[in-house]
Amino acid sequence: MSRQAPTKKVTNVELLAMKARGEKIVSLTAYDASFAHIQDEAGVDAVLVGDSLGMVVQGKNSTIPVTVDEMAYHAKIVSRGLKRALLIVDMPFMSYSDPQLTAKNAAILMQKGNAEMVKLEGGKEVLSSVERLVELGIPVCGHLGLLPQSVNQLGGYRVQGREQKEAKRILNDAKCLEKAGASAIVVECIPASLAKNISGSVNIPIIGIGAGVDCDGQVLVSYDMLDITVGKRPKFSKNFMTETKSISQAISAYVKAVKDKTFPSDEHTF
Ligand code: KIV
Repeated sequence: MSRQAPTKKVTNVELLAMKARGEKIVSLTAYDASFAHIQDEAGVDAVLVGDSLGMVVQGKNSTIPVTVDEMAYHAKIVSRGLKRALLIVDMPFMSYSDPQLTAKNAAILMQKGNAEMVKLEGGKEVLSSVERLVELGIPVCGHLGLLPQSVNQLGGYRVQGREQKEAKRILNDAKCLEKAGASAIVVECIPASLAKNISGSVNIPIIGIGAGVDCDGQVLVSYDMLDITVGKRPKFSKNFMTETKSISQAISAYVKAVKDKTFPSDEHTF
């Protein structure tokens, strides 16, 4: 029997409630109205307009060149496809380097792009920006672990938090982000044991990508799970097109697998 997708609008408060009742949060990236519509109908809870669009849509080498105006444009067209899912929009590189600039750029993403939550990368170094947004009534999602906007400093896209000192720093950053008022945190490419520890240490939802099954939710770059990755698909992703006949079936299969905790499995985990 096919699963009936829920219809109640997802908000930041609902994400918290989902964590509290142990229901997994399903998230995917979208960059246009048609994909957003299919995801919304399939029961994706939070649609992320990721700055990954710089790589998967624009064909660039990293997310660094993406601008606020480009994010606002893609967010606006994604918002036209959504009825139920929460719309989270990435703040691009250097758009949140001080609290005043952060507020100005978040306002553009909300007013031009219809963002309902903004996401920014980093821990301690971005707390003043997070606090300012929360003060202004803007829901914030943090992003810890592998930070793609810092790829030049990290020396590549690699697993973070394997060393004890680094793991401690990431855990502490998560606690600080919660204290600063963040509504959720994405953790990318960290060991599953660390993600589990973080999830158990904060009350806000931890949404993992390459972070194991014990996160409160999962997010993937939609192009990777729909087999339209240029080059090699990351280890933590899965091609959901192999066992399905259409994009909407593949996305429904992903929703079911996250809700049932059958994705990610060990082969997708560090
Ligand atoms: O930009 C993006 O797609 C993201 C995901 C990797 C979470 O931030």
